[in-house]
Amino acid sequence: MKNTLENTLNEQKIPVLTLNKVCKRFGGVVAADDISFELYGGEIFGLIGPNGAGKTTLINLITGIYSVDGGTITLSGKNITKASTHNKARLGIVRTFQHPRLLDRCDIKTNIALGIDLAGKRGIAEAKNYKERMNTLLEAAGLSGVNLDDSIEKLSYGQQKMIEIVRAMLSHPKVLLLDEPAAGLNHQEMEYIIKLVNIALKENISVLLIEHAMDLVMSICHRLTVLNFGHQIASGVPAEIQENEAVIKAYLGGSHNA
Ligand SMILES: Nc1ncnc2c1ncn2[C@@H]1O[C@H](COP(=O)(O)OP(=O)(O)O)[C@@H](O)[C@H]1O
Ligand SMILES: [Mg+2]
Repeated sequence: MKNTLENTLNEQKIPVLTLNKVCKRFGGVVAADDISFELYGGEIFGLIGPNGAGKTTLINLITGIYSVDGGTITLSGKNITKASTHNKARLGIVRTFQHPRLLDRCDIKTNIALGIDLAGKRGIAEAKNYKERMNTLLEAAGLSGVNLDDSIEKLSYGQQKMIEIVRAMLSHPKVLLLDEPAAGLNHQEMEYIIKLVNIALKENISVLLIEHAMDLVMSICHRLTVLNFGHQIASGVPAEIQENEAVIKAYLGGSHNA
C-alpha cells in the first residue's frame, strides 16, 4: 500500500494542506517554531511527540482557533492562514478533540448531524446518501446496534470518540484532524478507528493523526513528523522515525511509549 501511495504522491502536484514555517508563542512558551509539512490526499500523516510538545496547538492553528504568529497555511494552493474557523470548516477542514465535545443533553442522531450542516453549505450533502453513509460509518465504528434516539450519554467514552469521527467524516472533509483518537480506547475500539481511517483513505481525505499509541501510529501512518517543545525534530516514514536518535531520546525511548 505504501509504495502505491508514494507513486500517487509523486503524481499529485499540489498538496491538500501545507504548513510553511508556522509559528505560535504563548508568552515565553514557543508552542510552534517554524513548523512545515504537507499532507496529500489519501495520506495518513502522523504528528507525534511528548505531552506539551505543541501537537494540539497545531490543530488549533490549522482550524483557526488560534491565530498564527508567523508562517502560512495553504489549502489546495489557497492561502487560508487568516481564514476564520467557520470558513476553514466550510472549506473542508474538520477535527476531533482529545476529549469528545458533544452535546450532552441531545440524542445520538442530533450529535451526529452537527457536521452535515457544513457539508450542506459546500453543496455536497445529499440527503439521499446521508443515511447510507451514516450507516456505513456507524457500522465501521461498531455502532450499528445503537439506538440513535438514545441520549449521547448512554454511550461509552470510546463510543463517543467514535461518534465524533463519524460526525466529522459525514461532512465529506478534505482534511480530517484527529487529536489522540485512540487514547482511552480498548483494542477492539482501536480496530474501529482503523476501519474509519481506512474509509477516509479510500475517499482521498488527508488525515492528520496525533497519537501516542505507537503500534497504531507506526502501522497506519505513511509519513510522520515529531515535535518536541514546539520544535520539529524529525520527519520521515515510520522506519526512519523509529531509528532516529533524537526521536528515541526525546520520545520513543521514554515512558510516553506506554
Ligand atoms: N491557550 C494557551 N495558552 C497558553 N499556553 C498554551 C495554550 N495552548 C497551549 N499552550 C502551551 O503550548 C504548549 C503546547 O501545548 P499543546 O499543543 O497542548 O501540546 P500537546 O498537544 O503536544 O500535548 C504547552 O506548553 C502548553 O502549555
Ligand atoms: Mg494535545
